Amino acid sequence: MDIVITGSVAYDILMTFPGYFRDHILPEHIDSISLSFLVESMVRRRGGTAPNIAYTLALFGERPRLLVAVGEDFEEYRLWLESCGIDTRGAKCIPGVYTASFFANTDRANAQIAAFYPGAMAYAWQLSLQDLGGNPPDLVVISPNDPVAMNNYVQECCRLSIPYLYDPSQQIVRLSAAELREGIENARALFVNEYEFALIQKATGFQLEDILHSVEFMVVTHGKNGSTVFGGSQRYCIPGIPPEQIADPTGVGDAFRGGFLVAYARGMDWETCGRVGALAATYCLEQQGTQSHTFTTTEFLKRYRQHFDDQGKLEGWL
Ligand SMILES: Nc1ncnc2c1ncn2[C@@H]1O[C@H](COP(=O)(O)OP(=O)(O)OP(=O)(O)O)[C@@H](O)[C@H]1O
Ligand SMILES: [Mg+2]
Repeated sequence: MDIVITGSVAYDILMTFPGYFRDHILPEHIDSISLSFLVESMVRRRGGTAPNIAYTLALFGERPRLLVAVGEDFEEYRLWLESCGIDTRGAKCIPGVYTASFFANTDRANAQIAAFYPGAMAYAWQLSLQDLGGNPPDLVVISPNDPVAMNNYVQECCRLSIPYLYDPSQQIVRLSAAELREGIENARALFVNEYEFALIQKATGFQLEDILHSVEFMVVTHGKNGSTVFGGSQRYCIPGIPPEQIADPTGVGDAFRGGFLVAYARGMDWETCGRVGALAATYCLEQQGTQSHTFTTTEFLKRYRQHFDDQGKLEGWL
């Protein structure tokens, strides 16, 4: 299956302050606040929803294509993604701008002061599926991005009759009710966590039945409590798979999507899709960062079988 993934591309610059922000905030001088924190650690990680989802797909040997807007500092990121087996020819470099960047400083109490600079992401509306060349893809993933870009991709998919998976996530709050309705009504699938599902219902007035009436399948994730897959007029409860340790919860949702999509692309049943997604998410949870988990397909299958009986279905599949 030829899958095109759209969404954000970002660098996450994560710092830790060995103290408490609250000790340095002077309420009586708030009008002239001026603070600089000497931090004790900093890491710069590659992130963004599109490469995160693509990364897990590529771990299984898929070769997803990205359609994303990036900045002049993307070159080393491009090399990394290519080395993972991701097709970055659709990553368009916007001259004179940086790739989106998230700067976060966290203190001892886990209080956070952060800033998100959209950079090149603000130009994603300029990209079109037609820029990719070649045959139209079998499936497009519309994950969080510049809101105008997300709406454009919905419209383009409709115009070109390309099925898409709608994953509005953090951008739900930036999309109008009409835009969300259009995105859902025309989608092949909707992916959300349970909080996002509640936000969508409130914003659109859609009930579960309304959504299931439009889409072929829908997935609602519930953190450590697993996920619910709605497909073929059934509902499947997929358990979360306990991690050996939790190193970093960032990116689990994206890893879940990547795993689910691999199984979907290979024609697996809904329950198997959800279970593969759940195990991919657990692998991600066990590492720092969103693109640090690794496994061979043999290792993955072995661990899968410690939790589920695939009745031989996955033999030769991975
Ligand atoms: N603590 C956990 N233990 C086991 N599995 C987990 C845990 N947290 C998440 N998962 C797995 O990851 C999937 C997605 O998690 P979650 O519902 O937290 O997504 P999310 O809120 O979109 O996350 P993100 O922060 O990446 O956006 C779950 O359905 C589950 O399979
Ligand atoms: Mg999420």
